[in-house]
Amino acid sequence: MLRGPAARPLAGRHALVTAGPTFEAIDPVRGITNRSSGRQGYAIAEALARLGARVTLVSGPVALPTPPGVTRVDVESARQMLAACEAALPAEVGVFVAAVADWRVDEVFGSKLKKDKGGPPALTFVENPDILATLAASGPDRPKLVVGFAAETDDVEAHARAKLARKGCDWIIANDVTEPGVMGGTENAVLLIAKDHTERWERASKDAVAQAIAQRIAEALT
Ligand code: CTP
Ligand code: CA
Repeated sequence: MLRGPAARPLAGRHALVTAGPTFEAIDPVRGITNRSSGRQGYAIAEALARLGARVTLVSGPVALPTPPGVTRVDVESARQMLAACEAALPAEVGVFVAAVADWRVDEVFGSKLKKDKGGPPALTFVENPDILATLAASGPDRPKLVVGFAAETDDVEAHARAKLARKGCDWIIANDVTEPGVMGGTENAVLLIAKDHTERWERASKDAVAQAIAQRIAEALT
């Protein structure tokens, strides 16, 4: 086992990680959300902490324990997640793993909608802020390394590369969620898309993928 500075290459660095889904309320008892166990983001937070980073984990609602050595900030909605991320800056690296709901209802009902009041409600949606794109464009406060995730069902590399450009981040970690066992499972098969190259990583446990990502982040920052 490595000891001393080599074992903790991220000592003194602050890492911001988002994980889990967001939950967007419709009324006091209902809402819309995304499918996300939070496992991959939590594993990355844990791996970064193991390498010595001070880690702020901004988390949507998940059923996972806080990883050792990680400061967790619980949020529900995308707007709360953005505010918590902005409050956590500055950070040397931002890793945006959360499955953020792209839309929320434009007006949250203050009391429970009743089904006997004239049929299904007509909901109108508005777009949520893009947390990754906002932080990637945050001027002097921008983390040196901004890493996004992309869960895709087809043309994985092309879609992910387009996202890299659109969101102004440095890397996209892309995965094909049609791969059996990835969504909600313990394994992941990812591509690392950087501005000038693509790497195809072997299928591995989410913990092993997290450790590899943390290691690559340490190399990029040191
Ligand atoms: N993301 C974010 N805030 C949002 C939407 C997405 O921070 N409102 C981040 C995710 O955490 C992820 C990356 O952006 O790191 C890509 O998310 P994804 O849902 O794949 O991208 P979208 O731009 O929302 O595109 P689409 O869902 O249409 O594929
Ligand atoms: Ca999305």
